[in-house]
Amino acid sequence: MRDYENRDGVMLFGGMKVTDIADEFGTPVYVTDEKRLRENYRNVHNAFSKHMETKVHYACKANTNLTILKILEQEGSCIDAVSLGEVMTCLKAGFAPDRIIYTGNNVSNKELSAVAGLGVMINVDSVSELERLSKLSDGNKALPISFRITPGVGSGHNAKVVTGSTGSKFGIPEKDVIKTYLRAKELGFDPRGIHVHIGSGGRSSEPFMDAMEVLIRFTNELKEKGIELEFIDMGGGIGVPYRPNEPEMDVDELAADLTGMILEETDIKKILLEPGRYIVCDTTVLLTRCVDVKDAGIKKYVGVDAGFNTLIRPAMYDSYHHIALGNKFGKACTAKYDVVGPICESGDCLARDRVLPDPEEGDVVVIYDAGAYGFAMSSNYNSRPLCREVLVNDGKAELIRDSEKIEEQWIHQRIPERLIG
Ligand code: LLP
Repeated sequence: MRDYENRDGVMLFGGMKVTDIADEFGTPVYVTDEKRLRENYRNVHNAFSKHMETKVHYACKANTNLTILKILEQEGSCIDAVSLGEVMTCLKAGFAPDRIIYTGNNVSNKELSAVAGLGVMINVDSVSELERLSKLSDGNKALPISFRITPGVGSGHNAKVVTGSTGSKFGIPEKDVIKTYLRAKELGFDPRGIHVHIGSGGRSSEPFMDAMEVLIRFTNELKEKGIELEFIDMGGGIGVPYRPNEPEMDVDELAADLTGMILEETDIKKILLEPGRYIVCDTTVLLTRCVDVKDAGIKKYVGVDAGFNTLIRPAMYDSYHHIALGNKFGKACTAKYDVVGPICESGDCLARDRVLPDPEEGDVVVIYDAGAYGFAMSSNYNSRPLCREVLVNDGKAELIRDSEKIEEQWIHQRIPERLIG
């Protein structure tokens, strides 16, 4: 969690008063700090690239805003995409196909042929996918592929985002790894790498090391069988601190340890990483406005104009997001409140039991660390339009996504003629 500057009792974000941003663009609004985005990308890239050739494939599922993608494209990032939509969005943002890896799960033939047709590397997730890809891409066995394996090591901030454990729906089970690479060769493919993604938001480096051991074991075994890989892809999952005083993961140490293992134990010269959260999480706050204050006796509520349609993480994973009143920044707190939104469900709670300084209607409520899986997971539930996104840089703000109009929610619907008139 970042510390923010206080100017006359108002929180500053990207050199601007959050109250000015809320007044100019309305609420709810996601606001991203360009400088921090560039810094985060450089931090993770530099940590690894000082040891060996490194490609950072930003996991764009965390945030697919075209401006954010464009900034990362300028920084030299590559992309981890999980759907045709993500691949096409990244191409639109200016990424060349050879900077994109597609890692699908339970992929349909329709999507597989479309992605293969765009020339991006495919990180194959199952034997079924390999056989189907072989049929679909007949005559194009030059198609770059890699395999996602299930390392039998999982990690994550919540059971819903742990992906690498034995029996997972993701990846080639350990027992099938070698024969799947051999089968790929038989089919005419030339597999370039090996990949894991153990899960998201874990905050210990041990599972990464354990998974790396599995990757190294298979890399060396494959070499003995005549299959020489070019890279090891460690996936994403670097956790970030959401709570005050929580320490950051030591990315430099993680990089030294992981690259050290590869360089000592294999002939591999290139590592790929797929951080999503690490790159975008703390670049962005969600600004929402207090619209209602209620004392329900045993509980006090701050009602705001963002709900789980805007930020679903607290409702979905019980995630903690820090909250401050941007216009009473640093003021003494008076009581505990639940911060709740306008959705017609009791689960529409953004934060529980937070001490806040005398909240009132009109206050600007700042929700921290909303850049990863924030806007990206927002929805139209309760027919609420998707909100705006703004980029700030050195005291200037620019609109990077306008809010939807309510009417736009109807454009794909059709009412049968017989019901009209
Ligand atoms: N690579 C693959 C193959 C992935 O599936 C993911 C995330 C990543 C990379 C990036 O992981 P990260 O570095 O962001 O942890 N909605 C959840 C997180 C789901 C992550 C899904 N896969 C949340 O809000 O916490």
